[in-house]
Amino acid sequence: MTDTAIAWDAYARQRPERRLTNARGETTWFNWTQYPDHGPGAELLEVAAGARVLGLGCGKGANAAHLTVLGMRAVGVDVSAEQLRAARERWGHLSGLELHQAEAIGFMQEPGGVYDAVYSVYGAVWFTDPARLLPAVRERMRPGGRLVFSQRPPVEGCYGCQASYIPRGDEEDPLVVKRWDYGPEVWEQLLVEHGFTDVRAVVLPAPPGPRTIGTLIVQTRA
Ligand SMILES: C[S@@+](CC[C@H](N)C(=O)[O-])C[C@H]1O[C@@H](n2cnc3c(N)ncnc32)[C@H](O)[C@@H]1O
Repeated sequence: MTDTAIAWDAYARQRPERRLTNARGETTWFNWTQYPDHGPGAELLEVAAGARVLGLGCGKGANAAHLTVLGMRAVGVDVSAEQLRAARERWGHLSGLELHQAEAIGFMQEPGGVYDAVYSVYGAVWFTDPARLLPAVRERMRPGGRLVFSQRPPVEGCYGCQASYIPRGDEEDPLVVKRWDYGPEVWEQLLVEHGFTDVRAVVLPAPPGPRTIGTLIVQTRA
């Protein structure tokens, strides 16, 4: 097992599953942000029933599950066996859902057809060097299809490759994964450089309350 997979398995064991219903009483929903009942939904993907959609770093699969309930074919990829074990346990009964344990770029380099849309919610797009990831994503997308991803906005002055620490017990060092932090303007520039069009990158403010960090949401077209 790679160090990355070990780290994300440790993360998976610490993270709760999504609650059973949202504030509207729905049993599945799409959430781009780190806050419950906040922000836009699956409409950002601009796809309808029958579309084939790829989730990069799908985690415990709740967003992918929602897409299948909307009639889409959702393919979720995640490097963590633990995340996918939880995803299969909760959502494995959904016939439109396909889950793969793989590293995102390696998965996209395997044969497997094109996708109408690709998304990543605090997922593999955040944790992979965009110089390697973006060409691989574009190669697998239907021209004009949407790539949408969300992540935490950068801390001012801290740009490019950063260390994310995944804590373990008091007796063990934390595990480390790399993430790539850029502000909206740099994401716009990177995406255009890699042939994407119609780029819109914005920081959605946090909902009213004590927490203030917003969510960077980037939308573009292959
Ligand atoms: C912060 S979690 C977010 C999970 C999920 N998208 C969600 O919103 O709950 C990041 C996820 O990305 C996965 N991941 C990170 N790097 C990856 C990579 N290179 N390839 C595939 N999955 C990756 C991790 O295993 C983890 O499940």
